[in-house]
Amino acid sequence: MVRVDFGDYKEEVILINTEYGYRAYINRCRHLPVSLDWGDGEVLDASGKMLECRTHGALYRMKDGLCVAGPCQGAPLARVDLEERDGSVYLANSDSSDESEDVI
Ligand code: FES
Repeated sequence: MVRVDFGDYKEEVILINTEYGYRAYINRCRHLPVSLDWGDGEVLDASGKMLECRTHGALYRMKDGLCVAGPCQGAPLARVDLEERDGSVYLANSDSSDESEDVI
């Protein structure tokens, strides 16, 4: 979990390394506007293969954030675009002149 400053606002972002590469999603359920975790950073289901909302149990795929089970089935988490360069992960389209600001 990382806190990202988008300029006008800050968001808590779930950053995960999947078999499809790094993925990042805003930590906000699509059922109700609450974080997936309960403040402890725990967002994985028991299998460790899905993201799970602790409030009502919605399950999201890691590769695209799509909810595949639960009250918001069919709705995806808000994705944050990333770029991988030189072994580091950056916010996509970020100004690379001060990379220390954007590396996550
Ligand atoms: S608030 Fe996430 S499933 Fe209901």
